[in-house]
Amino acid sequence: MEQSGDEWQMIVYVNGKWVDEKEATVSFLDRGFVFADAIYEVLHIYNGNYFKLDLHIERMQNGLDKLRIPFRAQDLIPVFEELLTFTPGLEEGMLYVQVSRGTAPRAHGLPVLDEQSVVAYVKPLQPDRRIGEQGGHAILVEDLRWQMCNVKTTGLLLNAMAKQEALDRGADDAFFVRGNVVTEATSSNLFIVKNGELLTHPNGPHVLPGITRHVVIELATKLGIPVKEVMFSKDELLAADELFITGTISEVSPFLEVEGQVIGSGQVGPITRQLQAAFRQETAL
Ligand SMILES: Cc1ncc(COP(=O)(O)O)c(C=O)c1O
Repeated sequence: MEQSGDEWQMIVYVNGKWVDEKEATVSFLDRGFVFADAIYEVLHIYNGNYFKLDLHIERMQNGLDKLRIPFRAQDLIPVFEELLTFTPGLEEGMLYVQVSRGTAPRAHGLPVLDEQSVVAYVKPLQPDRRIGEQGGHAILVEDLRWQMCNVKTTGLLLNAMAKQEALDRGADDAFFVRGNVVTEATSSNLFIVKNGELLTHPNGPHVLPGITRHVVIELATKLGIPVKEVMFSKDELLAADELFITGTISEVSPFLEVEGQVIGSGQVGPITRQLQAAFRQETAL
């Protein structure tokens, strides 16, 4: 199946079938729909290739194991490869994939099901790189999320509400604060630069172990920029020299203002620019 003509038509993989997006449906009893009992991933496609596919598969498997969903993430690789063939010549795009426990009569206990519900699609992406270029503004919101933020489930309502609050207040994103500790952004990890060192919240129950976070830590280490995976407070965030977020879609994006307070010089800082350049090279876009 290939795309023809100018009209973009999305082909969606649903439980072993390739269907038009209008026919891509799952049951109202799907556990993903009823309980957010599902793991998802988003991958960036650069030059027709999935970026860090192996790391996404590994994180997905960790999540599935944690939720005791009996599914091998590796088995999705041929599906991902086939999805790419529907969009020949795709330079930049994204893949969304979701695996739920499956469909069963509604009951809280975790049913052991023979079949999981799998949905995956690829679409072209023209990310808005305005924040990456010019820097964004953020608000702070109380982190009311649960203690399993390291598991990439589809239960994203508090992330979505925080993002909307940011948009309502004229900002670009929200940063979560748990107690006095700044954890992460609504769909990105968070880094500050202080006195030439890079600080980011350690992996654990309160942040997603971001793939971009991992790549940026590796790049910084190669560049000789010291990295500390430590917690930092709201005051430390506001007193940072530089601040940026990392994510599959946001890549490396500087933020210049938080709650109306200017961060550092108010300009995109040199370490952020250095890491952006290194990341751009890594993706070879
Ligand atoms: C809450 C949260 N934190 C961090 C990230 C960044 O992770 P990655 O770099 O793997 O996209 C995401 C990505 O979706 C996210 O949803």
